[in-house]
Amino acid sequence: MISLSTTTPRELFLAAARGEKTKRPPLWIMRQAGRYLPEYRALKEKYGFLGIVKTPEIGAEAALQPIRRFGFDCAIVFSDILAMAEALGFPYKFADGGGIRLERKIASVRDIENMPAPENAAEKLQYVFDNLKILRAELPDRAIFGFCASPLTLGAYMVEGASSRDFPAYANFILEEPETFKKLMEKLSAALALFAKIQSESGIDAFQIFDSHAWLAPIGRWNETSGKWSEKISEAAGERCAVALFANGMGKRLAEIADFPADIISLDSSVELDKAKALFAKANSVQGNLDPNLLSEADEKSVETEALGIMQKMSPIGGHVFNLGHGILPSAKIENVEALCQTVKNFKPIYG
Ligand code: CP3
Repeated sequence: MISLSTTTPRELFLAAARGEKTKRPPLWIMRQAGRYLPEYRALKEKYGFLGIVKTPEIGAEAALQPIRRFGFDCAIVFSDILAMAEALGFPYKFADGGGIRLERKIASVRDIENMPAPENAAEKLQYVFDNLKILRAELPDRAIFGFCASPLTLGAYMVEGASSRDFPAYANFILEEPETFKKLMEKLSAALALFAKIQSESGIDAFQIFDSHAWLAPIGRWNETSGKWSEKISEAAGERCAVALFANGMGKRLAEIADFPADIISLDSSVELDKAKALFAKANSVQGNLDPNLLSEADEKSVETEALGIMQKMSPIGGHVFNLGHGILPSAKIENVEALCQTVKNFKPIYG
């Protein structure tokens, strides 16, 4: 079916999420509210990152900034995947010299057993639900995303205790302590599933599971290490909204994620989206996957050429939500983001 008559950005997104061919792909950017924007830096100067996240009106303002400036089709609630770590008793803050650090990390089975029940964790995250309700009221015609981490990805920060390039302690923990790892995944998936369900009841159109560290799953074991736990989140949110899975670093292992029950699979820049889409058994659509480095390093012409290349391949197939292959970098140039928006909005599809 070709949805040429969609009237609002929200409808355009929902049509693409159902796998339809649309007049152009809907567009949003992972981490679209953030440090590359001068207006975000001003907000952070005044309230601090956690002040923005935990004050619903200010959080909504941060989420609205990129919509006002660029007219993206989708907004995403301003929060962090580590909000759940904090709700489970592991607060986070910025480390001196960059990155993020947790006040404590998981050191024993007791730390897992002592985590609060899902209902108690959800209560502490009321600011996320309030933030979403403001966004819904402010943006009736845009698609709104809620999100959380996959259990595998959240566990990486809680065991390592900080952001890391390789998460060596966690990689070792997965291999050496399978029973404790399973206990952790049970706890995290139950808490995240309830969190996702309540977000899905707050008026959102889509829910994204950030499996940002999917690549930590041992080769051939993504499903048992990550997928089966994220499935609980997908089921909890999927009754009321579209579900997207960002499966980062899985380019060489796409067969492992092929059966995941999501409407949208979001992929990094290492894959050809059109070829990848053919592999997915359940997803109607794919999201991605312009290289975020381009927005920092390249000029406007190269951004246009690369974005056109992706859309030309995807438009005859349909079911494409335009995004980057990973979060936008603080060094991204505003004029390159503007060039990307122009290119996507002016795109003339080639239907097969
Ligand atoms: O527009 C949006 O998408 C904003 C909402 C959002 C944030 N984090 C705000 C944020 C979302 C969806 C996230 C997800 C998130 N957080 C992920 C998954 C996405 C991905 O990139 O794979 C991950 C891995 C995190 C964990 C996290 N949060 C780290 C490692 C850091 C530090 C990064 C750094 O470079 O210092 C954060 C902080 C964070 N979360 C920022 C923002 C805007 C930067 C805060 C600041 O300094 O202003």
